[in-house]
Amino acid sequence: MKNMFHLIADCSYAFEKLIDEEASASNSVMPAHQLISRFTMACITSAGFGVDSETMGEGYKTNPFTKAGEMVFTKSKKDTFKTYFRMTWPGIFYFFRQHRFPTTLMDMFYDFMTSVFEARNHKPTSRNDFVDFILGFKEKEFITGETLSSPKSPVEKTSVEVTDEFLVANCLIFFLAGFETSATTSSYTLYELAKHPEAQNKLLKEIDDYLERTGNKIHYESIAELPYLQACVDEALRLYPVLGVSVREVVEEVSLGSVRLDKGVLIHIPTYSLQRDAKYFPEPEKYRPERFLGEEKQKIIPHTYMPFGDGPRLCIGMRFARMQMTAGLITLLKKYRVELAPGTPTEPDWDPLTALLPSPKKPLNLKFIVREGWENRVFVKPENCKNCKS
Ligand code: HEM
Repeated sequence: MKNMFHLIADCSYAFEKLIDEEASASNSVMPAHQLISRFTMACITSAGFGVDSETMGEGYKTNPFTKAGEMVFTKSKKDTFKTYFRMTWPGIFYFFRQHRFPTTLMDMFYDFMTSVFEARNHKPTSRNDFVDFILGFKEKEFITGETLSSPKSPVEKTSVEVTDEFLVANCLIFFLAGFETSATTSSYTLYELAKHPEAQNKLLKEIDDYLERTGNKIHYESIAELPYLQACVDEALRLYPVLGVSVREVVEEVSLGSVRLDKGVLIHIPTYSLQRDAKYFPEPEKYRPERFLGEEKQKIIPHTYMPFGDGPRLCIGMRFARMQMTAGLITLLKKYRVELAPGTPTEPDWDPLTALLPSPKKPLNLKFIVREGWENRVFVKPENCKNCKS
């Protein structure tokens, strides 16, 4: 992860300019989400696939990565219905050969990824990115792993043939899971900071002190060196977990106390409700980053807070997400403070059409206000940056 951070720093340098351009084009009032997703898309394609996707450039509206994101995350009744149907009756969904994502998206991504594999001669390079990682599988032809059997049964092995389709499908999941989740979380963090000036002031001070220490450079270590920033993000993830419900299938009959769970039953784990339950988080509707600091953090009961999932299928991108969210929030807040724009609701009114990630009916517009002394916090151009324009 640490070896990849320079790519995030390069993207942050470009993001610094993009924020200024968008703030001036929108008269300093805009929802943060789209702005940040252009940054996270650039991070994921650069660090994951070794490609400058140019989503922070001028032609972003027609950019194929922007289009790919829109195909999956734009709200529609049909997609919402499909998502809930698949969550409830996965067997029937796949029996009728349904796909959650449009085939045009799969075709587009297939062409793009196979061209990346081709450019690398279908072998891992020294970049050490996600494409190298999965090209390593190709050399083996088959991947063998453990089946999802019960912890009580003897471990069974299963094999999957490594085809281009298999590799491209993994890249697509990595891309989709990678940019939107971090953009959504960062924008809810900013929304809550806009409502809580005292928390925002504390964070701005932490960021300013950090940049003074580093001479306006960001490093991998920023994640550990900005504990209040991490707590602000953790608290936003508590109130707005990107997956409000996780689903698991019972693979072997089991009894939990007096409740018997039959094989094949689907369990819906209500992350959103657990994380807003007063039994586990006093005054649960209140945004209070301090819950995630020091002794208070130690008191959180295991499995009551799981925005990145839990168990063997825990999010594999958790550390990457922290890296890009930290870099993005530093870049934005070192120059701007945020406030709710006139007309922005103080509580989001959830759109029932949102099946994948929590999305409000009305845009959460923020006002970006230039901070005093920002000139002293301009990034130093990263060394050997290939994509930095100036
Ligand atoms: C704030 C950011 C993120 C949040 C809140 C988040 C949340 C989650 C959650 C809750 C799961 C588990 C789903 C389940 O229980 O079924 C998950 C899985 C996953 N996430 Fe993330 N994620 C984030 C960022 C990322 C990033 C940046 C990447 C890639 C770079 C990523 C890649 C994945 C993948 C591939 C899985 C599937 C893992 C598996 O099934 O074994 N995520 N994520």
